[in-house]
Amino acid sequence: MLANKRILLIIAGGIAAYKCLELIRRLKERGCSVRAIMTKSARQFVTPLSVGALSGDRVYTDLFDLTAEHDIGHIQLSRDADLLVVAPATADLIARMAAGLADDLATNVLLATDKPVLIAPAMNPVMWSHPATVRNVAWLRETGIAMVGPNVGAMAERGEFGAGRMAEPMEILAAIEAHFASAIAAPKPLTGKHIIITSGPTHEPIDPVRYIANRSSGRQGHAIAKALADLGARVTLVSGPVAIADPVGVDVLHVETAAEMLAACSAALPADVAVFAAAVADWRTEAASLKLKKTPGAGPPALALVQNPDILATVAHGTPRPRLVVGFAAETNDVLAHASEKRLRKGCDWIVANDVGAGTDIMGGTENEVHLVTEAGIETWPRLAKQDVADRLAARIAEALA
Ligand code: C5P
Repeated sequence: MLANKRILLIIAGGIAAYKCLELIRRLKERGCSVRAIMTKSARQFVTPLSVGALSGDRVYTDLFDLTAEHDIGHIQLSRDADLLVVAPATADLIARMAAGLADDLATNVLLATDKPVLIAPAMNPVMWSHPATVRNVAWLRETGIAMVGPNVGAMAERGEFGAGRMAEPMEILAAIEAHFASAIAAPKPLTGKHIIITSGPTHEPIDPVRYIANRSSGRQGHAIAKALADLGARVTLVSGPVAIADPVGVDVLHVETAAEMLAACSAALPADVAVFAAAVADWRTEAASLKLKKTPGAGPPALALVQNPDILATVAHGTPRPRLVVGFAAETNDVLAHASEKRLRKGCDWIVANDVGAGTDIMGGTENEVHLVTEAGIETWPRLAKQDVADRLAARIAEALA
């Protein structure tokens, strides 16, 4: 798949730069041509001689290299490639890309390119979680720049651990292959759209060891997140505590309580669509700071319940409101009547309603049987695997946005 693909590899100055040598070898083995640009600081970590020996091409380093400007020039350099790969993408280079700077050859090429760009961030975990980097990365992703990694692990600095390790060369290679595989496939209908989805239960603490929960597994919500990402959407999945894996290709925010879920959803806005599949606890209690004890002679403690915020209603009635807001209604009786009433009361556009009564094996199970309640009426779907329900719902969402 990579034969004859032209990769322009931009190497910035980080300790992970040494991994690029391996990446170049693997790309060459697969028949790619690799042309490399090295920033000034990259050259402190690896030499242009090593990079050039492996790429089999000259290495570009300076913006004002008259010979290069004569032969090829930075505009041409940025266009003579099928894909630009930035590895390692340091916090500094990411910031300069996000700001649209063009103060060296690497940033000039990145600003002048009309080709897809894949970045492999690499930096210290504190730099990675700094609000400036978070903002810059989010902005680059909004503009369609793809990302691989960073991974969580030990840093080159002694004793430092966290998110920020550059993806391994084989992972970058897989991301490059995935890029070309998806470019061959049909264009995706939700590309450029941001979708927030909640999934799973919430846990509301009673004391440090006990909590109020429900039987939601997160299977339906996670399947929808995956289905939407498969259609090209940038998906933010806000997940309560679940025992299933994070879906691939989705940004996952792990939360525990309803209050945390609301805060994560609000922070993830704006979005084109929001889907509220989580089984949010309706009530919480003032959590005791110490474990509640059985007192001989005294009765059981009374739990004073407080209403939780309704996340769906808050987002549906708030600003910026997603264009399409989808809620769920898990009911044990009068499913359709409750769902239609809920759609209006909560201010959402669609409700996916299902019967979770005893014997249906839906809550926590692998299949679902739903009704889609919209302004236009009620559709009843057959009993399907949760992933098939998810694929069908994702296709309907894509249709509604088209
Ligand atoms: O009122 P009920 O819990 O039946 O509403 C279900 C819908 O509302 C689901 O989409 C659920 O995710 C959402 N919800 C919410 N926040 C709550 C309660 C429910 O977002 N506190």
